[in-house]
Amino acid sequence: MEFEVLKKTPLFNTFSEQGKRISLPQGIFHWSGRAKKEAEISGTLGSAFGYEKDFIEGGSSDWVPLYLEDIKDYTKLSVKEVVPYSQISGLEELKSLWKKWLIRKSLYNAETETVELKNLENFTTAPVVTSGLTNGIFLCCSLLLDPGEFIISPNKRWGNYDNIVEKLIGAKIKSFDFFTENKFNIQGLKEAIFEVSKSQEKIVLILGFPNNPTGYVPNEEEMEEIITMLKQTQKNLSKPIIVLIDDAYEPYIFSKDAIKSSIFYALHEIEEDVIPIKLDGITKEMLLYGGRIGFITIGLKPHWVSNDEELTTLKSELNNKLSGLVRTTISNSNHFYQALVIKLFKDVGMEGLIQKRNKIKNLLKDRYEKINEELRKIDNSNISVDPNAGGFFVFVNLNPNKISANQFADHLLRKYKVGVIPIEKHNNKINGIRIAYCSIDLTKIPEFVKRFNLALNDF
Ligand SMILES: Cc1ncc(COP(=O)(O)O)c(C=O)c1O
Repeated sequence: MEFEVLKKTPLFNTFSEQGKRISLPQGIFHWSGRAKKEAEISGTLGSAFGYEKDFIEGGSSDWVPLYLEDIKDYTKLSVKEVVPYSQISGLEELKSLWKKWLIRKSLYNAETETVELKNLENFTTAPVVTSGLTNGIFLCCSLLLDPGEFIISPNKRWGNYDNIVEKLIGAKIKSFDFFTENKFNIQGLKEAIFEVSKSQEKIVLILGFPNNPTGYVPNEEEMEEIITMLKQTQKNLSKPIIVLIDDAYEPYIFSKDAIKSSIFYALHEIEEDVIPIKLDGITKEMLLYGGRIGFITIGLKPHWVSNDEELTTLKSELNNKLSGLVRTTISNSNHFYQALVIKLFKDVGMEGLIQKRNKIKNLLKDRYEKINEELRKIDNSNISVDPNAGGFFVFVNLNPNKISANQFADHLLRKYKVGVIPIEKHNNKINGIRIAYCSIDLTKIPEFVKRFNLALNDF
C-alpha cells in the first residue's frame, strides 16, 4: 500500500518513523483471498479445520475449526464464534456496531444542546479493535511518538501512561498542573503546547474525562474554553494538534453540571487540524474488565480530501496502518469477547444496554455523592479534594509540608485497616490519595471517611 491520500494529509506528518514505516503486508491475505475465489482445494488457512463428525462423536458433517469438545460446556456461543482467529482489525460486524454505538454516545449532548454533528458518521474511521484501551494507547503512542519526542498530559494522570510513553517507547511526557484555582488549567496546557512546539512539528496530547485519578470532567463552559484555546493555538502555530482521548470512563458522569458526552465529538467538528483520536472500550463501559476489547477511532477533517473516493481510500489506508501495528504486536484481539459484545448489542440492544447499565451507574452515583458529602465534612486545612464529576475515583491532596502521601497510606492501612492508593511525585507537584469509591459499598463509606479523618489527625 502506498498511502497516497494519507501522505497528503497533515496526519501523516504527525507519525513517528515507525508509524510512517508500518503497514500490513498483503501477502497471506492476497493469496487466501484469491484461493477463496479461484481454488478447488485450498491449503491457505493457517488454522486447523475438519468435518465435525471426524473428531466429535455424533458430530455433524459441517466443516468447522477443529476444537476440543469440552469448550462447548462453558459457553452458549457457537464454536465458530469462539475458536477461529478474529480479523486483524476486529470483527467487521463489531466494528460497524461500535461505530453506531459511538454515534449513539454522542447523543447525550445533542438531546439537550441540539449540537449538530455533521461530520461524525462520514469523517471518522471504522473503529479498530485493540486488546483493551491500554493496547490502544500503546499503539497510538507508537504510531505518533519517536523516542525523545513529547506527549503532553496533565500531571494527574493514569500512571500507566508514564510507563508506556517513557519506559516502553522512550518518548517523554510534558506535564502541566491539572488545576489552577480549582479549575482546569487551560493556561498551563497552552504553555505546554508552546513549549513543545519549539522542538516539534506536531503536538500530541492525551486527555480523558472523567479523569483517573481525580474524577474531573469539565463543564460546558470549560470545554468551550479548552476547544477555543486549541483552535486558536493550532492556527497560531500552524502545526497539527493530535488529541488522544482516553474515554475509559466515558459513561460515568454523575454531576449535572458536567458535559454529558466525550470531548471527542466537539473537537471532531472543528475545522482546524486539531485531530481527535478516540480510545474507548468495553472494559468499564460494559463492565467487562477481563474481556480486553478496546477501540481506536480517528477523527478526520473534511478538508483533507476532495471527494468520496479519496475519503474511502484514506480510511482504508489508516485501517492498514493500524492493522500493521495490531498484527505486529498482538496479531488480533480476543474473538470470544468480540462475539459476546455483538450478541449484547443485537439481543439487548443499545438502549437496553444503557438502561441496564443505568442501574449500576446509579449505584456508583450514590457512592460518588456519599464520598464527596463525607469528605466535605472533614475540617482540616492540610487536605483538599480535587474537582470531580464522575469516573471511579476521587483525589485528596495532602499538604506536602506536613504529610507524605506514602506515609499516610501506610499509616491508614496499618492502624485503621483502610486501603488507598497514594501518589507522591514531588517533581510533578503531586502528593495525595486516590480513593476508588467504585469498590466501596455505600454503607461503608462513612466509616471509611471516619477512619481516613482519624488518620489525618494523627499527623
Ligand atoms: C484512564 C484509564 N485509561 C485506560 C485504562 C485501561 O483500560 P483497559 O483495561 O481497557 O486497558 C484505565 C484502567 O484503569 C484507565 O484508568
